[in-house]
Amino acid sequence: MTLAVLPEEEDIQYLRQTNYNAEVIDRIDVNDELIILRVRPDHGVTSFVPGQYSVMGLGNWEMRVPGCQEEHLEEDERQRVLKRAYSFSCSMVDENGSLRRPDEFSYFEFYIVLVRQGEKHPPGLTPRLFGLAAGDRLFVGPKATGHYTLDLVQPDDNIVMAATGTGEAPHNAMVAQLLSTGHRGQVITVICVRNRHDLGYEETHRQLEQAHGNYRHIQLTTREPENLDNSRDDFIGKQYLQDYFDSIEFERDSGISLDPQCTHVFLCGNPAMIGAPKRDAQGVLRFPKPTGVIEILSRRGFHPDERSHPGNIHYEKYW
Ligand SMILES: Cc1cc2nc3c(=O)[nH]c(=O)nc-3n(C[C@H](O)[C@H](O)[C@H](O)COP(=O)(O)OP(=O)(O)OC[C@H]3O[C@@H](n4cnc5c(N)ncnc54)[C@H](O)[C@@H]3O)c2cc1C
Ligand SMILES: NC(=O)c1ccc[n+]([C@@H]2O[C@H](COP(=O)([O-])OP(=O)(O)OC[C@H]3O[C@@H](n4cnc5c(N)ncnc54)[C@H](OP(=O)(O)O)[C@@H]3O)[C@@H](O)[C@H]2O)c1
Repeated sequence: MTLAVLPEEEDIQYLRQTNYNAEVIDRIDVNDELIILRVRPDHGVTSFVPGQYSVMGLGNWEMRVPGCQEEHLEEDERQRVLKRAYSFSCSMVDENGSLRRPDEFSYFEFYIVLVRQGEKHPPGLTPRLFGLAAGDRLFVGPKATGHYTLDLVQPDDNIVMAATGTGEAPHNAMVAQLLSTGHRGQVITVICVRNRHDLGYEETHRQLEQAHGNYRHIQLTTREPENLDNSRDDFIGKQYLQDYFDSIEFERDSGISLDPQCTHVFLCGNPAMIGAPKRDAQGVLRFPKPTGVIEILSRRGFHPDERSHPGNIHYEKYW
């Protein structure tokens, strides 16, 4: 099929029918730039391991929400479906507030931030995902992928999961899995966001803390008045995860010691927060600058988990 420069409504219907395989069943707006999207594939939900991700896609013919960096598409790009990776998040509790395993939900849940401005090119997918409403169609990948999972964790290990922004998505699926299967070690989640209104799962985390003695949720902010205004009595500065793990604060707030013998750390989100090292020609780990959490924890005896060298710091970079 060939299309005119701008696809007509009829053409768009055809493109949607031939390219999409899933439906939005619910959309929760946390704020203007943060949503929880619940999606049901036509053939039902496929199984995934907590921590894994799939892809979502929408055609370039779909409208972008206003207020985003403009994009200029070539003629041959207009019929293309743009796909990006998204971690499986999880509601964690059902409508009665009862804890559920991730595989007990009849939909996929995704946690998405609107990127208005790209670093290298205009953002393509999120300005279109933010136009979706319940009943709308989209593409969802048929398979779950990724090695950012709880595979190496033993039942008595302590688990620390730290994220920036939507990087908490895979941790939510892991928390639901661990708590619902009676994990015996401590489970600590730490989330760093710009503002408190970016804490989309706050209420559920607090509910889970009340119900599970081995679960603790810690939230840090970077753009609230107490983070920015040094004339205030309660000024604390920006609460970056790197500083948090490099001080006594994490151990004070979580109540656990960062012991590499019995602790697995999971890091997800902003690559600069993670600071993933590379091996040089001699096989020596080289850390990037500025210093990320992996380097800080490595100084305390932790090791990044690599295919060739299993370790106790696991990470997933979002870009
Ligand atoms: C394995 C994996 C899992 C991911 N899971 C999620 C998820 O669960 N939720 C989610 O919102 N995104 C997730 N992402 C990022 C996602 O794939 C897209 O890149 C993002 O939604 C932006 O898409 P875009 O096309 O609008 O802009 P893009 O062109 O893809 O990105 C433009 C820029 O936006 C910034 N950016 C991208 N993603 C984020 C983010 N999540 N938070 C802050 N800034 C960001 C970066 O600076 C990036 O260079 C994941 C990425 C990977 C690799
Ligand atoms: N969340 C919002 O309220 C908001 C508002 C407008 C636009 N957006 C758009 O949404 C996108 C993502 O925003 P986001 O806030 O979810 O994700 P983000 O930019 O990755 O920020 C999440 C948290 O990580 C912190 N952070 C940033 N760089 C870091 C680093 N090098 N090391 C450690 N921590 C770091 C941020 O602090 P900082 O305060 O220093 O950034 C923030 O607290 C952006 O592209 C933006 O355009 C979001």
